[in-house]
Amino acid sequence: MARRNKLYEGKAKILYEGPEPGTLVQYFKDDATAFNAEKKDVIDGKGVLNNRLSEYFMSGLNNIGVPTHFIKRLNMREQLIRQVEIIPLEVVVRNVAAGSMSKRLGIEEGTPLPRPIIEFYYKDDKLGDPLVTEEHIVAFGWANQQDLDDMVALAVRVNDFLSGVMLAVGIRLIDFKIEIGRAWEGDFQRLIVADEISPDSCRLWDIESGQKLDKDVFRRDLGSLADAYTEVARRLGVLPSNVTHATKPHLIN
Ligand code: TMP
Repeated sequence: MARRNKLYEGKAKILYEGPEPGTLVQYFKDDATAFNAEKKDVIDGKGVLNNRLSEYFMSGLNNIGVPTHFIKRLNMREQLIRQVEIIPLEVVVRNVAAGSMSKRLGIEEGTPLPRPIIEFYYKDDKLGDPLVTEEHIVAFGWANQQDLDDMVALAVRVNDFLSGVMLAVGIRLIDFKIEIGRAWEGDFQRLIVADEISPDSCRLWDIESGQKLDKDVFRRDLGSLADAYTEVARRLGVLPSNVTHATKPHLIN
């Protein structure tokens, strides 16, 4: 079998050429980074969990008519996706103050926001992904006004969907980040959700205890990241089959 062509390697994922034009294979690594890769570790099984969780969220979005790049999962660590041209922005939606917003504006973490707040960060590791405004985005040509309207509409739908899915399993969606890409359909393009949606890119707090079930566990040294992600996957019923041996065997009557 011919070796696949690697197109891009990021901090947590690798993109390979797909089997057909317009497709890619997205591979989820076990690497965890924070603070622009100043802090690094390898978390056994993280890639497997994020592959499953991103599949779960993206296919759910596809099913309610929110277009995403997800086509199908191929194996434990890989999924087939549509090739898109990534817009160089991280789109963050916040329901509750936390993280950089709490720091920047001096709002205590956990304070509910009066309405969901959408922010854009310019994707540039050298600059540390700075917060930018719609003025910057349009002036520098990263996206036009129509794209911005479409991005906000997508972000709001993803927020409503994810908030509901999480609430149903006792988890509060504090905030999340998505990336959006241009998918070409003939001469037309539309914007679709790309990259990944996983506990790497969300803040997820247990509704009862407030326990953190997301990458802040790694960023802030709060315990086992694999356990936190496994708990999210378990609650959503998407534990990969090779991890189920961790639960005790039980008799079937
Ligand atoms: P922040 O509070 O650090 O700005 O993060 C907001 C949300 O975006 C949070 O859910 C974590 C996510 N995020 C990423 O997915 N990638 C990043 O590089 C950063 C900084 C945040």
